[in-house]
Amino acid sequence: MIRVLFVCLGNICRSPMAEAIFRDLIIKENLVDKISVDSGGTGDWHIGKGPHKGTSQVLELKGISFEGIIARQVNEKDWDDFDYIIAMDEQNVADLHSIRKAQDDQVVIARLMDFVEQPKEENVPDPYYTGNFDYTYQLVSEGCTQLLNYIKEKHSLT
Ligand code: 4NP
Repeated sequence: MIRVLFVCLGNICRSPMAEAIFRDLIIKENLVDKISVDSGGTGDWHIGKGPHKGTSQVLELKGISFEGIIARQVNEKDWDDFDYIIAMDEQNVADLHSIRKAQDDQVVIARLMDFVEQPKEENVPDPYYTGNFDYTYQLVSEGCTQLLNYIKEKHSLT
C-alpha cells in the first residue's frame, strides 16, 4: 500500500480538499487497494472539526465527497505511517522538519505544486486568508492529478 498524507496549517481548508479530491481519483481509478490517503495540520486549533465552509461548498459543487474527513494534527508517528507527506506551502515543509528532526527517513516530503509542470504557483495560497476557494480547488485538483500520475508511474500501478 502506498500511503499519502496531505498537510497544511489548519487541516480545514487546503489539505482536506486535497484528501477528498485524491480519494475521489483513487476510487475512480480503482486504486483503493493500492493507495491510501489522509490529511493533517501542523497546527492544533481545529482538531476534531470538519472542513471549512469554503472547502465543503466547492467540493459539494464538484460532486466530491468529504465524508469522514476530520481535522487532526500531524505527529512524529506519521513518518512511520506514510510514504509521501505532501505539503501545501513552504512554511508547512519547514514546520514538518521541526516536528520530525531525524534526517534518515525514507518518507518523501514535497509540496503538491512540485508535481505540476510549470505550476501557476509554487505554494497553494491559503484560502483561509484569501477567501478564494475556487482558485484553491483549481490548484489542488491539478496537483492531485499530477501526484497520482507520478505515484502510478513510480510504483508501476498502471
Ligand atoms: P488551511 O487554512 O491551512 O488551508 O487549513 C487555515 C485554516 C485555519 C487557520 C489557518 C489556516 N487558522 O489560523 O486557524
